[in-house]
Amino acid sequence: MTESLLDRVPVIPVVVIENLDHAVPIARALVQGGVPVIELTLRTPVALDAIERIAAEVPEILVGAGTIVTPGQAKQAADAGAQFLVSPGCTPALTKAMTETGLPHLPGAATVSEVLALLEAGYTDLKFFPAEASGGANFLKSIHSPVPAARFCPTGGISTANASSYLALPNVGCVGGSWLTPAPVLAAEDWDAVASLAKAAAELKTTA
Ligand code: 3PG
Repeated sequence: MTESLLDRVPVIPVVVIENLDHAVPIARALVQGGVPVIELTLRTPVALDAIERIAAEVPEILVGAGTIVTPGQAKQAADAGAQFLVSPGCTPALTKAMTETGLPHLPGAATVSEVLALLEAGYTDLKFFPAEASGGANFLKSIHSPVPAARFCPTGGISTANASSYLALPNVGCVGGSWLTPAPVLAAEDWDAVASLAKAAAELKTTA
């Protein structure tokens, strides 16, 4: 993959999956809505199996694993077929394990020092998490001038109400969020609703 993860879609759907049978319909609905990327969070017991199923059955979507919080999860996700990895924070062991998979990945940062440490380690593309709780769009706006090399995918508390204020910033490539796959919509198996939410997200404008 040569294109940055930050430049593929305006919104990376962050999905918490409880029912394995929902994996493929969710992925198809996102593709139908124009968002061919999905980040499955490793927060539920079925997440790795969901990645495996999507990788096998929905080849048109880029499937990744999120909430990588231990080094071992990086390899597990790669073995399941994940094509990219996202972590909410970073430690040297985590970034080493993610690098060893050979997959593109976004380590998380929420402070200027964490951003600088990741730049030193060779990263330019980062996750900013938890975005709203850590200063939101104003934080990213403030650090662009002193730290222009860093680019972000902010996630955490983002929705249609505030996504545009992030996407307008020069150091934001895309945002991430769970609002495209709300739990009640998944429980109702309303795949048309997921496709509609994806369509609205795909139409959000970025600065790119
Ligand atoms: C993440 O893992 O990126 C966040 O939990 C997504 O945050 P949200 O649920 O507030 O969109």
